[in-house]
Amino acid sequence: MLEDKDRYGLGWSGEGYKRETYCAHGGRDEGMTCHAVNVPVVRASTILFDNLEALEASDGSRLRYGRSGTQSNFALRDWLKGYEGADEVWLTGSGMEAILFVLQNLSKSGREILVADNVYLPTKKICEKILRPRGVKVTYVDCRDVEDVSARLRGDVDVLFMEVPGSSTFEMADATRLAELCRENGVVSVLDHTWSAGYFYRPLCEGVDVAIQSASKYCGGHADVMMGVVSVKKGEVMDSLRYVEDVSAVSTSPDAAWLVLRGARTLSARMRRHDESAREMASWLERESMVAKVLYPGLESDEGYGVWKSRYEGGSGLMGVLLKGRSREGLASFVDHMELFGMGFSWGSFESLILPQDQARNYRGVMGFPEVSGEEETTLVRVHIGLEDCEDLKRDLSEGLLRWKKSMT
Ligand SMILES: Cc1ncc(COP(=O)(O)O)c(C=O)c1O
Repeated sequence: MLEDKDRYGLGWSGEGYKRETYCAHGGRDEGMTCHAVNVPVVRASTILFDNLEALEASDGSRLRYGRSGTQSNFALRDWLKGYEGADEVWLTGSGMEAILFVLQNLSKSGREILVADNVYLPTKKICEKILRPRGVKVTYVDCRDVEDVSARLRGDVDVLFMEVPGSSTFEMADATRLAELCRENGVVSVLDHTWSAGYFYRPLCEGVDVAIQSASKYCGGHADVMMGVVSVKKGEVMDSLRYVEDVSAVSTSPDAAWLVLRGARTLSARMRRHDESAREMASWLERESMVAKVLYPGLESDEGYGVWKSRYEGGSGLMGVLLKGRSREGLASFVDHMELFGMGFSWGSFESLILPQDQARNYRGVMGFPEVSGEEETTLVRVHIGLEDCEDLKRDLSEGLLRWKKSMT
């Protein structure tokens, strides 16, 4: 019998499948596919009913009005339920919409939420521009400091919002332990787990109450679709979010759902490759002379390696690289002439990317950006390792690092 965290969906006789099998087969209800392998895209606002009896019988059924989605939306939601170990899953138009949906609906005026100081910047903007003006007290915390967070999980606190690893700087936190402490104190734990896409760490199976991920990244996997996912198990949080979802109509298009489900079918092969290549590239990068530090929890030298090793089965393709020195011109000479690494927002697709991070806009009050002893100035770039050959990627980066070195002399 498979353990809960290794069991995906129901599978044969209710025992469940292992992850790879589930990625390929989960959510495939033959009734929805018209005998094709893939579910069709059905674009609809109006769904027609044959007669009054059918109209009345549709109350509470899935295929009733296009706002609740059609076949591809249902298939993706079914797939995600088994994948995340969830009882309910909502799809939103983007990862940000998922974060907004959760934060807006779980926070209350006059009460407090704790938010990891190293969350994705737009998440902080939701806190500052939407929640705080509505009377929600927002306190930023360093989730690496379990004792400090634990001491704060009382009084008016309703929610702990985590992102692991931290945005841009990839600090690890023990979300499993923090979720346990939240439960003991009646606080709802929320985790943005976009980095590992639920593949190497399943938040709901680890006791986290609400798991959020941007499916625009790994689940979609091809840089051509935007979507957010909110997953929960049965309970009060599910009931309250379900009510809001029903009346506020959080939804996505059937086309977006179809694209994400197609990406999901190859997720296991892609994640394993991202993991393998990223670890090789991170070890190689940390030996390069112009690199001050590589921020990647899967590296033994990383401060978060212990937590990562104990909780995660692998890592994704995204990491931070701190270059020695700082120069706008040098940075341009590095990133403007890459052959394989494209420059642009988002990540999690099949291709490698590089993106300078603006350290001058340090928006962290509690944690700060990482510093490297002996280096007065550093430049942070975010690197996504795609599915290309690592030797080709090393060559591209080596040449970029050489241009960076020249600009420093
Ligand atoms: C960790 C994390 N969460 C959420 C988001 C938002 O996702 P989306 O771009 O789909 O809105 C991003 C986007 O980069 C992200 O990096």
